[in-house]
Amino acid sequence: MKLPIRLNALLEMIQSPYEHIWDCCCDHGYLGKAILTRDCSALVHFLDVVGPIILKLEQDLISSGADASRWQTHVADLMHLSLPKTDNKQLLIIAGVGGDLTVELVSAVLRNNPEAKLEFLLCPVRQLNKVRVEMDYLGLGLVAERLVKDAGRYYELIHISTSEPKRISPVGEQMWDLAEADHQEYLLQNIQHYQRMKGQQSSVAASAALAAYVAIKQ
Ligand SMILES: C[S@@+](CC[C@H](N)C(=O)[O-])C[C@H]1O[C@@H](n2cnc3c(N)ncnc32)[C@H](O)[C@@H]1O
Repeated sequence: MKLPIRLNALLEMIQSPYEHIWDCCCDHGYLGKAILTRDCSALVHFLDVVGPIILKLEQDLISSGADASRWQTHVADLMHLSLPKTDNKQLLIIAGVGGDLTVELVSAVLRNNPEAKLEFLLCPVRQLNKVRVEMDYLGLGLVAERLVKDAGRYYELIHISTSEPKRISPVGEQMWDLAEADHQEYLLQNIQHYQRMKGQQSSVAASAALAAYVAIKQ
């Protein structure tokens, strides 16, 4: 199956070897299934809070003939997940959920697994500035980031780690290529959004975000 641009870009960002890769909030599980087709040694975990979603996915995986020693399924709330104890790093992918929920989920995983070596691959829907600020506040560092357009919508893909010292920019840094018309368009969308927010609420956070987006343009 051909992956949508957003999920394919996430797949391309998975480079290092991991003992465990978690397709959290997996729903259809397209990304985890694509990881399984790659030649890697990771155990791939499919996790969603909705039982029937996981039941169907499990049936799909079995009928596809995927090697059963390479995957596990979990009906679980990510807010309460206890990760396997290991000295090796684990990757958690959280994509396709809102920014507020993304922040809650990452915070909970870190709180519930304080000793774990973790990397997160995030692709939130909306509130990107808030997610970035909160991830930096949680002490996570940037591994890589990308901006992609898929079916007319822009997505920021943010790879972060508990062991990486590089600070996470509140508006993105290495993902921007302003020679690209799409990037210019996305930047303008953000500037206009925060201009409206600043006008409506005169919030300090909106003013800071606006100033940071404007600075990218200059
Ligand atoms: C829109 S789907 C995202 C699917 C896929 N990750 C993607 O990016 O295309 C969101 C999924 O998140 C799941 N979800 C929401 N909150 C969750 C939580 N606290 N724990 C686990 N799964 C959750 C929902 O059940 C739903 O299947």
